[in-house]
Amino acid sequence: MDSIEIRGAILADAESISVVLREIAAAGKRSKPSDVDFARQHYVNDPDRIRCSIAVHDGRILGFQSLKWAVEGNPYGAPVGWGVIGTHIRPSAARCGVGRALFRETLLAARDHDLPAIDATIAATNAEGLAYYAAMGFVDYRQVDGARCKRFSIT
Ligand SMILES: CC(C)(COP(=O)(O)OP(=O)(O)OC[C@H]1O[C@@H](n2cnc3c(N)ncnc32)[C@H](O)[C@@H]1OP(=O)(O)O)[C@@H](O)C(=O)NCCC(=O)NCCS
Repeated sequence: MDSIEIRGAILADAESISVVLREIAAAGKRSKPSDVDFARQHYVNDPDRIRCSIAVHDGRILGFQSLKWAVEGNPYGAPVGWGVIGTHIRPSAARCGVGRALFRETLLAARDHDLPAIDATIAATNAEGLAYYAAMGFVDYRQVDGARCKRFSIT
């Protein structure tokens, strides 16, 4: 896809992020909350946020990628001090290179913050998520109930 703009999320993006999450849920690919408050608290304004990047095309938000600190007691069980990543692309914009473009920006942020590694915890049934992270260079390093945890080591 031509001319995808990647920029940092701002508070006003919470509504569009929620729309993206709802579309993913409607496609049967998400069961967690998708409302605006959730988008605000977990992505745009999360205190553990390192960077939340938004992909925009023709003024429309196609998706976003969140990089947060893995803090003590993080829900993924990721090692403290690593990053944890989440990627959410509108189903109608999938497989167009949006996720790939977002990861370039996330990797810059990870390097800026001297992260040793990034954890991606993906449902074992999420074939496209697993394939995406593998394509970005993530490798399996542990398994938890129903999920596979992949690691990207920052060199
Ligand atoms: C998984 C997801 C993030 C991929 O994002 P995307 O923008 O479609 O990915 P890209 O188009 O940048 O693809 C990059 C590479 O990932 C791999 N990939 C992506 N989607 C794939 C799929 N459905 N099947 C197989 N490989 C896939 C391919 O290697 C692809 O490169 P290629 O198209 O040149 O072959 C997106 O489909 C999504 O948001 N899904 C719903 C939410 C989710 O499951 N998120 C992941 C867990 S947090």
